[in-house]
Amino acid sequence: MQGKRILLGVTGGIAAYKSPDLVRRLRERGAEVQVVMTAGAREFVTPTTFQAVSGRTVRTDLWDAAAEAAMGHIELARWADAVLIAPASADFLARLATGRADDLLATLCLATEAPIAVAPAMNHVMWANAATRANVAQLAARGVVVLGPASGDQACGETGEGRMLEPLELAEELQALLAAGGELAGRRVLVTAGPTRERLDPVRFISNRSSGKMGFAVAQAARAAGAEVVLVSGPVSLPTPPGVRRIDVESAADMLAAVLKELAGTQVFISTAAVADYRPLRAAAQKIKKTSDTLEISMERTPDVLATVAARPDRPFVVGFAAETESVEQNARTKLMKKNLDMIAANEVGDDKAFDSEENQLIVLARGARYELGRAGKLALARGLVALIARELAARADRSQRGTALG
Ligand code: CTP
Repeated sequence: MQGKRILLGVTGGIAAYKSPDLVRRLRERGAEVQVVMTAGAREFVTPTTFQAVSGRTVRTDLWDAAAEAAMGHIELARWADAVLIAPASADFLARLATGRADDLLATLCLATEAPIAVAPAMNHVMWANAATRANVAQLAARGVVVLGPASGDQACGETGEGRMLEPLELAEELQALLAAGGELAGRRVLVTAGPTRERLDPVRFISNRSSGKMGFAVAQAARAAGAEVVLVSGPVSLPTPPGVRRIDVESAADMLAAVLKELAGTQVFISTAAVADYRPLRAAAQKIKKTSDTLEISMERTPDVLATVAARPDRPFVVGFAAETESVEQNARTKLMKKNLDMIAANEVGDDKAFDSEENQLIVLARGARYELGRAGKLALARGLVALIARELAARADRSQRGTALG
């Protein structure tokens, strides 16, 4: 978001108390933020607060001669790379839907050609009201991006859908929106993450220590690069990255079924999941009782999700992961060839390396290329990996174009 100019509209709702934090989240991503407040917003937070966090004079009034002289409202509407209204009250959504220009913010929304996103926040009954639903549907049909709302406890003491998304989620979503021309814009990316659980009996399973963090970071990075992202995840305790569609699964078989169902239209498949290699031959229907001193469990191989995808004639660009305790690069290269992958990201595990840790490092091998992504946080590595995938895809498109030209 470096250097991007965000016009942040704040309207009258209790969630306005979170908007100063949103300004900070946007600025820490390098964006310039100009805040515009409605009269209602000023009942909840003062312009001084926003001025302090944005470093810019807050605009509140269409008829403010001094502010208009500095930057007129049409100029301000053109200045913005994106407009975000957060919180967007029911009243503001109604005004936006009907094209009113009865205050500065509504006028700016009419006058801008930049993408507009709204983060609705209101009581759940107001959100469910047919009038609000119709306004939101109309806005969405006109290309306004509707972010949230989330459901949960509300300021009024009730519970339901209508909470504004958290500032961090909004910042991520806006970043993705601005990346609409990003490296993976228009691509559909399917990611697997986390461990799988293979059932032994109704209360026990075999699994592994994968936390899912790397896969979730990859999904988040792909989304931030403008892709449509579907995340098929084994059991993990991580929040879904904003804007990512998540499908929860348990076993390797479930994961394969979910992946095959989602594969159509996918251009990139990234397999970060630590899929169990074996499962009990038979899951006991009842809890296994301790009737003997030892217990033997016969196991069979699980389906290889990655290899299955890579073997399909309509395969997308296929990226695997390799977790190795020794000869990292050599083992990864063997896997790249054996599973017929386009790319593999390898890391060293064991002695508490990688699993469940925040940091990692990767060697990335593609056909005829080798990259190293040095020790860093998992999100930074994920961004690096996404950039390499985008580069490989671009090189491939280039080669096929040249091939066509020659042919
Ligand atoms: N994978 C998969 N389905 C499986 C097993 C693995 O999709 N049943 C994928 C993983 O998501 C990862 C890659 O395959 O992208 C890892 O390859 P694999 O050969 O399973 O790695 P290890 O288990 O580390 O290999 P090995 O047993 O050879 O040590």
